[in-house]
Amino acid sequence: MTEHGVVNKLLEAHIKRLQDKAWEIFPYPCIGLFEFVKFNLPTYPAYAHVLSLLQRDHGAVYLDVGCCVGQDLRYLRSHERIPPSQLVGAELQQEFIDLGHELFLDSPEETGIRMQAADIFDAHSWLEKEMRGKCAVVHASYFLHLFNYARQREAAERLVGYLRGRPGDVIVGRMIGSAVAGEYMHPTVGVMMRHDLASFGKFWDEVGSRTGRKLKVECQIDPNTVRVSPEGKRFDHPPEEKATEMVFSITCE
Ligand SMILES: C[S@@+](CC[C@H](N)C(=O)[O-])C[C@H]1O[C@@H](n2cnc3c(N)ncnc32)[C@H](O)[C@@H]1O
Repeated sequence: MTEHGVVNKLLEAHIKRLQDKAWEIFPYPCIGLFEFVKFNLPTYPAYAHVLSLLQRDHGAVYLDVGCCVGQDLRYLRSHERIPPSQLVGAELQQEFIDLGHELFLDSPEETGIRMQAADIFDAHSWLEKEMRGKCAVVHASYFLHLFNYARQREAAERLVGYLRGRPGDVIVGRMIGSAVAGEYMHPTVGVMMRHDLASFGKFWDEVGSRTGRKLKVECQIDPNTVRVSPEGKRFDHPPEEKATEMVFSITCE
């Protein structure tokens, strides 16, 4: 075997070991699908806009809600040289943040990025106290679909609340949708509200009017999402649920 082959094998073993550990913390479908080692933020249509907000104003804050191991935060720091002072991650489970350091072989001091445990629904958390009205960009990746309609709307209102509200400030993210909008029961996550394009537009209209913000909604839907992990285990959404992948940006006008 070549030296390159050895490095690949070691890397694969490292990632699989940490996948098993992450699965023990909580068996999210995205853990089964190795999403935690993919940098998805740079693939979004709004990525150039996100970057320009962060690069032209070094006071502009990017907040990743439900950041898990913090892969996209690290991408912005290492690949785009965004100063860590502009990067913040909020995550329900401290274990995922700790696992991120084990995965990326770094420490909180080395990254310099504030990643801290918080529950988006906790009105007394640092997230609510310190981030409300402070952010230019809020990232919610595979996050909003974790909740039923009522909780999802509450979470979305909080995301809007983190923005400064200047024209161009943006929430970006992705979530599982469905060709048939509605609430679906997932064996590990629980009741998930999944949208189609029409219900997603109505949802954000409601969030906009409840928060008093004028929001432009853009969304791309991929109907051909493969929802089974490469090993064929950790099955995600049954085909009859017609799951889709939605990538969205919600921009302040
Ligand atoms: C499905 S994972 C997605 C992780 C990451 N954003 C990604 O795309 O790879 C959802 C993350 O949201 C976190 N989460 C769930 N409920 C939360 C809450 N109420 N407040 C903050 N984070 C939460 C979970 O712990 C988990 O890390």
